[in-house]
Amino acid sequence: MPTLIEERRALYSGALDLLAVKILEDEASIGAAFPYVTEESGAWRTMPASQSAGYSGDAWSHGNWFCGFWVGLLVASHLHTGKGRYLDLARERMRLVAPRCEDPNTHDIGFIFESSAVPAHHVTGDGWFADLAIRAAERLRARLITTPAGAYLSSWGPLDDRRGRLSSAIDTMANLPLLYWASAHSGERSFRLAGEAHARMTQEAFIRADFSTFHAVEYDEAGQRARGYTFQGHADHSLWSRGQAWAIYGYAATAADTRNRAHLEVAEALGRRYLERLGDHPVPYWDFDDPAVPDAPRDSSAAAITAAGFLAMARLHPDPEKGAAWRGHAQAMLDCLCTDYLAHEDWHRGLLKHGCYSIPHRDGVDSAVLFGDYFFVEALMAALSPGAFLPEPEPL
Ligand code: GLY
Repeated sequence: MPTLIEERRALYSGALDLLAVKILEDEASIGAAFPYVTEESGAWRTMPASQSAGYSGDAWSHGNWFCGFWVGLLVASHLHTGKGRYLDLARERMRLVAPRCEDPNTHDIGFIFESSAVPAHHVTGDGWFADLAIRAAERLRARLITTPAGAYLSSWGPLDDRRGRLSSAIDTMANLPLLYWASAHSGERSFRLAGEAHARMTQEAFIRADFSTFHAVEYDEAGQRARGYTFQGHADHSLWSRGQAWAIYGYAATAADTRNRAHLEVAEALGRRYLERLGDHPVPYWDFDDPAVPDAPRDSSAAAITAAGFLAMARLHPDPEKGAAWRGHAQAMLDCLCTDYLAHEDWHRGLLKHGCYSIPHRDGVDSAVLFGDYFFVEALMAALSPGAFLPEPEPL
């Protein structure tokens, strides 16, 4: 990767300095629970790590899919500052997160363990982290539903519940890195095969002709799309920007692990569609089709996730010019987040302002959202110190 110019390096490094200060302050006050979104007052709203996903009547609750991101932010702060205190805190927090590796109810165990145990193992080499990540990957792999048309990972709910078994979400694409890591770590191909099967079926069922994506799909028993719908976007046929970001990130990860150029081409087509809808502001509206645009809220987390995906595409791309173009787009997004979106104010906890968790659920609108902070930091680490926080993909 070309050396970053000094000015940009200082900008990115400054954001990580801010994280290191804030996370230590927060550690002194949050107790055993984990932050997930900020309130209007700027204070973190928190949730115990043990809160699993589930149905309450017909309403689905995601539970705590955020807790691993906190561990990942502590590990990144350790790498950035060189201080052991952050690693001690990461280990302590990991003990609270660890029981979730047996959670049978959600695809989110991918998010939880790929952002915590995987970087912690990469940085320390400690087998305890790797064992947790493998156990979580086994649970995620067990969510593979085989149909005559292919196989997909069910996103939500116990597998004996028809509602969840027949549904999948675009977010699942960004849970696949746990399976890919498990395959590389254990040498067991079944993890990779499950991930790639899911990516292929998602390509058929979720990606529309214009390379925008549905948020969720309900399959029929034959594995055909019965309907495309949304859970957190504006409407079933709208383009929820974070959903597109999860897809870009997931196909880049699939290309990196499988070494199959076709998945990179999908990531690129999704990325081009995202850029067409983005216009000239590097941070997207929460949903590109919200009728309130240009007065609709933006979602800084979608920009952070997309930047992380574009950086992976840049590193993978066999054509250096095309790789440089994806890197340029990622840098424009990260530059804007560092310049205009950092929460420097003491009262505003979290790192990135103006994230948008869910407008339909009225939760975390115009807030810091923990996953946004995490993917922002993952992208900054990849830009500043490739391979230090997570393994670096080799060019295809
Ligand atoms: N459930 C994942 C997301 O909110 O993007």
